[in-house]
Amino acid sequence: MTDKKIIAVVGATGAQGGGLARAILADKDSGFAARVLTRNPNSAKAVALAKLGAQVAALDVDDPESVKKAFAGAYGAYCVTFFWDHFSTEKEMAEAKSMAQAAKAGDLRHVIWSTLEDTRKWVPLTDDRMPTLQGKYKVPHFDAKWESNHFFTDAGVPTTFLLTSFYWDNFIHFGMGPKKNSDGKLVITLPMGDKKLPGIAAEDIGKCAYGIFKAPSAFIRKTVGIAGECLTGAQMAATFSEVLGKEVQYNAVPPHIYRSFGFPGADDLGNMFQFKHDFEEYFCGARDPKFARSLNPSLQDFKTWLASNKAAIPMEDAGASA
Ligand SMILES: NC(=O)c1ccc[n+]([C@@H]2O[C@H](COP(=O)([O-])OP(=O)(O)OC[C@H]3O[C@@H](n4cnc5c(N)ncnc54)[C@H](OP(=O)(O)O)[C@@H]3O)[C@@H](O)[C@H]2O)c1
Repeated sequence: MTDKKIIAVVGATGAQGGGLARAILADKDSGFAARVLTRNPNSAKAVALAKLGAQVAALDVDDPESVKKAFAGAYGAYCVTFFWDHFSTEKEMAEAKSMAQAAKAGDLRHVIWSTLEDTRKWVPLTDDRMPTLQGKYKVPHFDAKWESNHFFTDAGVPTTFLLTSFYWDNFIHFGMGPKKNSDGKLVITLPMGDKKLPGIAAEDIGKCAYGIFKAPSAFIRKTVGIAGECLTGAQMAATFSEVLGKEVQYNAVPPHIYRSFGFPGADDLGNMFQFKHDFEEYFCGARDPKFARSLNPSLQDFKTWLASNKAAIPMEDAGASA
């Protein structure tokens, strides 16, 4: 038992939730405790968090009763869904609904819902600059998250709606790292033209979330956005070149080419990048690194993140040094 305020962390063995769990556990004198929620309490990641002092509890977000049990007795919860595990907006919305209802049932005092914009407010379904996907979305993994916001507001859950950014970790885990082109040059490929992409170290999302939990009155019923830095593809490529010590170029493909790449979700991501490109001013404006740094003073910029993570980026060797 603890007299600390328990934060129940969904996805605590993953990127967003993991950062939050570690931020809470690193702050030994705080008034907060981390409850790590996982489908497998015996996994190496769950056990590692337990060793740092976390409570570990079982959760399957697809089972509403399990979500209620996992949130019971907590002060707050970090709620995130896992679109790329199943590609289903229906599943994502059902999971968000279960979490909102469990937060209500447990009378939680503060919930952070990791959401994203409804891109259809900027690009209505009638706008054919990008294809409509699954019959009713422009960017399914964005639109379904925003469409889920009402589960939290309807239930009267004291919620902060957190707009996250592109993880730089996608260069490690999502196959987006530098690849050799037909000339043997290393390139990063993004359909962002000359526009800026807000990005963040995934670990910093959780650290920012912790800053939000520490200041509930400032953030309940608010929508806030975070990024580590907003950079063009050319700026990211230049940072890669500098940090890796070998030239990396930026390949700015048009969004329709990106959509045709054929990997699962390429159409969704092509539309997403096109939205970020076409509405750069709004999208970057909603994710101010200065604000994120006020929540998390150790917020990393891209160069700092890359210097610490370059060894983990799978990369074809282009041979020549810059
Ligand atoms: N990649 C990006 O650039 C980016 C940017 C912004 C937003 N997002 C959004 O981030 C979300 C994913 O968050 P993430 O990256 O933190 O996820 P993640 O790293 O893939 O972590 C997912 C964790 O959640 C747990 N999990 C998966 N299915 C579960 C279930 N049914 N019940 C309970 N736990 C489950 C897994 O833990 P166990 O195996 O231990 O149960 C896993 O460790 C997506 O919806 C995506 O749209 C991604």
